[in-house]
Amino acid sequence: MKTKTMLAAIVAVGLSGASASAQDDDRFLIEVDEATQALLFADMRGLTESLDNLMMALAEGDFEQVARIGEIDLGYGHVKLQAMVEAGATDEQITAMRAQMKANREARAAAGNTGPGPGMGALFGIPVGVGQKMPDDFRLMGQAMHGSAEDMATAARAVGETPTAADYQAVLEGVQGITGTCVACHATFRVR
Ligand code: HEC
Repeated sequence: MKTKTMLAAIVAVGLSGASASAQDDDRFLIEVDEATQALLFADMRGLTESLDNLMMALAEGDFEQVARIGEIDLGYGHVKLQAMVEAGATDEQITAMRAQMKANREARAAAGNTGPGPGMGALFGIPVGVGQKMPDDFRLMGQAMHGSAEDMATAARAVGETPTAADYQAVLEGVQGITGTCVACHATFRVR
């Protein structure tokens, strides 16, 4: 309880600092139209829900589910993978798609291509045309988030029959890797 109260106080101080005035806001403004904003926000609320589901699965000690959420809901190509699951894709089909996406990513990286990938139009709810115009750093932070989610899923897949405290710690470190990228991107960019 005491720690919680202290945290609330720290957060309150941080918030009052951040919202001092628009001029003090040194986040980079990405100008997008209202429809794109709405898509981005909807996607962000989806990420928040996935994070909540992840914490629930973790609290239940269901590491298979934790890994799936990392891979399908927060990992690379999550919009596409979630649509596949929705349409009834099998685990094999999901695994094959993830492998193909990975191969594409590695081929692009090997070719030194840091720009948007072909399937990246749906990056954070941003439509293709706009997605191409997003700053590279925004894309890279999105990539970092997906990469962290995949690392967390790998840690969850490594957990044995009887999870130890060290297993939980490893997975929680992975979860913080994800939340760290949420925080970093929010501290850097805004759209309004
Ligand atoms: C690549 C950048 C990026 C990453 C990574 C990112 N976000 Fe966001 N998020 C944004 C931007 C930009 C906004 C809009 C900020 C603004 O201008 O108000 C936003 C807004 C939000 C909102 C507000 C939505 C609304 O309806 O008002 C939520 C909630 C949110 N993000 C959750 C998350 C969570 C949870 C994560 C991590 C799992 C995350 N975001 C990762 C860029 C990002």
